[in-house]
Amino acid sequence: MKGKMMTDIKEQLKSMAETVEGELTECFERPFDAPDIIISAMKYSLFAGGKRLRPILMKETCKMMGGCPDDATKMACAIEMIHTYSLIHDDLPAMDDDELRRGKPTNHMVYGENIAVLAGDALLNFATEIGLEGIAEVPKEKTAAAIKAMTILMTASGVNGMIGGQTGDLLCEEDQEINEEKIRYIHAHKTAALLTAAIVCGATIAQASESDIAALTEYGLDIGMAFQIADDILDVTSSTKVLGKPVGSDVKNHKSTFVSLYGLVSAQEKVREFRDHALAALKTLPVDTQFLTDIANYICNRALD
Ligand code: IPE
Ligand code: IPE
Ligand code: MG
Ligand code: MG
Ligand code: MG
Repeated sequence: MKGKMMTDIKEQLKSMAETVEGELTECFERPFDAPDIIISAMKYSLFAGGKRLRPILMKETCKMMGGCPDDATKMACAIEMIHTYSLIHDDLPAMDDDELRRGKPTNHMVYGENIAVLAGDALLNFATEIGLEGIAEVPKEKTAAAIKAMTILMTASGVNGMIGGQTGDLLCEEDQEINEEKIRYIHAHKTAALLTAAIVCGATIAQASESDIAALTEYGLDIGMAFQIADDILDVTSSTKVLGKPVGSDVKNHKSTFVSLYGLVSAQEKVREFRDHALAALKTLPVDTQFLTDIANYICNRALD
């Protein structure tokens, strides 16, 4: 039964990722007034694959909460662009110094560090442009909700979210007094913030109630924590071939993770705890939450199998 469910969610995600791929492609069907190399560098990383989890979560949550997923399409493209920019910068020699991403050489390996920095910047700006276009396109009575969603997205990717977490992640490399509280801050901000924003933006566009959004926020933060701990576990237990990125990156960079702090078995236990808490948060929602249940299991099982 567990095996069958995993096959179903994997197939579902594959077909949803193809839809996202098409929507991202459409964003680039416009004239650009820039040297070819920067557009090519942006597209290189954006169209290198990736699970497209964040845009999928945004559109599916919007649908689940009774909204029209088309209203979330451009904001979903925006979140994937922001995520991809964060990965380009995360891989730079000044950060994690990794050479493989999504099964291909990292952006700076192909285009050089200078263009990779700009490609990341360009994707962040393009995300804002596309997100704002999306707001302009929703029916008038939904404009305020769409603006609210965009504010949530930009906050989660900024200094109070992902950037704050990435800064903490860099500082932890030299921190002799690292502890669980600091690692929780890092994971919650560098990873859980954007995953939560994906879900909450979808619900906000659907004009979900405050109490439903509170439950979805709890779910998002929990699967976000589980997601990063799973990523840290896979950095130890998986292979470059499966992940499409180098394993052993965290040890190389002296990163502090639940794995380095408590060991593999306890880290896996934490993943289960966050998953169970996330699933409990879904119980209060008055809608069919099967998809979010499957996603939580999918994220966690990657690191538990
Ligand atoms: C990788 O995210 C970065 C982390 C937050 C751990 P994903 O595992 O979602 O990467 P892609 O988008 O599928 O490549
Ligand atoms: C998450 O952490 C990175 C971002 C938030 C961009 P990692 O540094 O562990 O991500 P990977 O393993 O390189 O994908
Ligand atoms: Mg990193
Ligand atoms: Mg990294
Ligand atoms: Mg990692």
